[in-house]
Amino acid sequence: SKKITIAIDGFSSTGKSTVAKRLAKELNYVYVDTGAMYRAVTLYMMRKVFVSDGSFDEEAIIRHLPFINLKFHFNEDLGFGEMYLNAENVEKEIRYMEVSNQVSKVAAVPQVRKMLVEQQKEMGKDKGVIMDGRDIGTVVFPDAELKIFMTASTEERATRRFDELKSRGDEVEYEEVLKNVKDRDFVDSTREDSPLRKAEDAVEIDTSGISVEEVYQKMLHLAKDRI
Ligand code: C5P
Repeated sequence: SKKITIAIDGFSSTGKSTVAKRLAKELNYVYVDTGAMYRAVTLYMMRKVFVSDGSFDEEAIIRHLPFINLKFHFNEDLGFGEMYLNAENVEKEIRYMEVSNQVSKVAAVPQVRKMLVEQQKEMGKDKGVIMDGRDIGTVVFPDAELKIFMTASTEERATRRFDELKSRGDEVEYEEVLKNVKDRDFVDSTREDSPLRKAEDAVEIDTSGISVEEVYQKMLHLAKDRI
């Protein structure tokens, strides 16, 4: 069988990473969570560049970019790669609401995107990769053999993210999570550079009301058809 590239895009909390990780394990492919990369850059900037009111100077962000080193280290127990920012494991911290609330603004800076897209292309150059994000099928791998675009209702996605955060012990309000999901949808799909949109040749999967298992089976079937 031949190795292919699988690009998964969609709005936040559609369950992209859950199915992508499972599929990568089944096919023995590399899984790359590009959202984690944007989150790690954001965390770095929050520590170094952000002013206390949450504003930032775009020029300062650009100046700091060369000092950021991102790596995924595979964790045998977890079965996926954890995000390291300059040799520090930031896998937990990048999922906090504080980071979620800022990431879309940082991800809209073209120089940030340029740097991360280059790294993503490099990670996928030998194929056998499943990458999830917002611009994988449109910008990172426009020639991917399989492109999937995942959607779900806003409320369902907010509930999913809320349950996820709660189960990790985070003190969050549902309303705050819902607002964050809506805000990110808006910023991600209206930004000038690589806005979130479905690639013309992507298969759309609406995950509203269907189980993770069903979504997974659907994707596995689509992948096997192309391998
Ligand atoms: O996938 P996740 O929800 O963790 O992504 C966090 C944020 O990173 C998104 O809301 C978006 O602003 C940004 N992102 C992006 N392009 C990608 C992946 C994520 O702009 N390929």
